[in-house]
Amino acid sequence: MVKLTVNGVERTFDGDEDMPLLWYLRDELGLTGTKFGCGVAACGACTVHLDGTAVRACQTPLSATAGTAVTTIEGLSPDGNHPLQAAWRDLNVAQCGYCQTGQIMQAASLLRETPNPSDADIDNAMSGNLCRCGTYPRIRAAIKQAAKGARL
Ligand code: FES
Ligand code: FES
Repeated sequence: MVKLTVNGVERTFDGDEDMPLLWYLRDELGLTGTKFGCGVAACGACTVHLDGTAVRACQTPLSATAGTAVTTIEGLSPDGNHPLQAAWRDLNVAQCGYCQTGQIMQAASLLRETPNPSDADIDNAMSGNLCRCGTYPRIRAAIKQAAKGARL
């Protein structure tokens, strides 16, 4: 049995502890904001936070979440107004949108650790989050805007 917190709600999981966290979030809790892309930790679409640090939910077994606080895009902000979400809207970052929840969760982890990231910090932190639509320049601009705490 695994006890964890998901978006502030205490949960008990009583199944196969080798199951990836991504399956639990999407199929059992209905938190479908976290996306399945590759399944092998190569794209970042499934990025969530484990105690505030970005992890790939597709390669995180339930056993690794015992006693932790999991945060998904649905729990990043109570009203969808995390500075990154506001910046993403202001700059129309998303194209198809598929990768973007993972991008935002990765960026939120970056800003938590590095509130004023350099271009190199951003490139380094975001390099594992792929975007088939090529929105990388807007992602970088939105992270910078959120870091400044300014709205356009
Ligand atoms: S689905 Fe997890 S990294 Fe691609
Ligand atoms: S916005 Fe389409 S994959 Fe990133």
